Amino acid sequence: MKPILIQHLEGEAIGRFPVWMMRQAGRYLPEYREIRSRHSFWEMVTLPEVAAEVSLQPIRRYPLDAVIFFSDILTLPYSLGIPIELVESIGPVNHRPLASELDFGIFDAFQPSRETRYVGGALRLIREQLPADKALLGFAGAPWTVGCYLIEGKSSKTFEKTLTWMYRDEASLVNSLRTLAGATRKYLDWQIQNGADAVQVFDTWLSHMPREFFAKHYLGLLNEIFNSLPVPVVFFAQKAHHLIDLFVELNANVLSVDSLVSLERVDQLTRGKFSLQGNLDPMVLFSDVPTVRRRTRALVETARRLSRPAILNLGHGVLPGTPLESVEAFVQEASTLWV
Ligand code: CP3
Repeated sequence: MKPILIQHLEGEAIGRFPVWMMRQAGRYLPEYREIRSRHSFWEMVTLPEVAAEVSLQPIRRYPLDAVIFFSDILTLPYSLGIPIELVESIGPVNHRPLASELDFGIFDAFQPSRETRYVGGALRLIREQLPADKALLGFAGAPWTVGCYLIEGKSSKTFEKTLTWMYRDEASLVNSLRTLAGATRKYLDWQIQNGADAVQVFDTWLSHMPREFFAKHYLGLLNEIFNSLPVPVVFFAQKAHHLIDLFVELNANVLSVDSLVSLERVDQLTRGKFSLQGNLDPMVLFSDVPTVRRRTRALVETARRLSRPAILNLGHGVLPGTPLESVEAFVQEASTLWV
């Protein structure tokens, strides 16, 4: 049996929309916090049994249609020895920022079966325990977003180092991102070999990329990754509204949409080319259960009017502190049969 989410993307009628949540394995869950209190973040990522356990926690509680394996978009650079630390209240910090094409050469040597064997192990363990009707999702950070973290050293408001590099020496930044894209492609392929049914590529900081750079250089790099993958590809960009019409050139299957723009607007701007995923504001989950139900029902109605089969999700990751009863109301309302 194929996972329901995959059947749905292939156009089979399942009578409802598949649902999962970005960051569904995370700190809003008490059982996550319990394990996290005993392990560092990188321990959790690199111990397959722990990563698999945490990945499966959300489906033990909620009838979600997919499990995304527990890891991070910075696991790939971390696996090559780049000193990335998760610092409380700052987020991921790279203690040795990359500053040249030569520095990015480190990604040429990336062999996923050597550097990220634990990721393959975690995926196989999840697949063994996962019911066949649930999809297993692999993921990676997109070269721009991972590149931004590595160049800036941490998340940034201005992306000063990355953007000044781009304006000063565009060609060498493009070459650097191309090297990183090559490693990303191998990494996703490794996840597929180990059981991922689909993959999501996260480009959280695409909001800061000039349109010209996207059209001239970056679109092609993304497509080099997407074209080589034998499973459905989901592309997530956040607040990259200045680029949505250009997304029509992307060879992804699904666009994951943030909460500031409507799914219908994205459908129009991309001329019905993609299945859309999204896009309840994670902040709605902090309101109250009736509001969550009402907003989720409205989202379902919107999804029914789209050109292609949609996947219901949040517009961004579930936030720490999210009330569990809101998550339950969202998943239940989202997965209600409508035919
Ligand atoms: O459940 C899942 O979605 C799977 C696991 C996952 C994590 N991070 C776990 C994690 C995924 C898919 C990510 C992606 C990720 N990581 C993105 C792209 C998506 C997005 O949210 O925009 C980005 C930008 C990162 C970088 C990163 N890693 C940030 C900003 C943080 C949070 C910092 C903080 O303190 O909130 C991390 C750490 C991280 N990755 C946590 C989790 C559950 C929190 C770890 C903890 O302290 O326990």
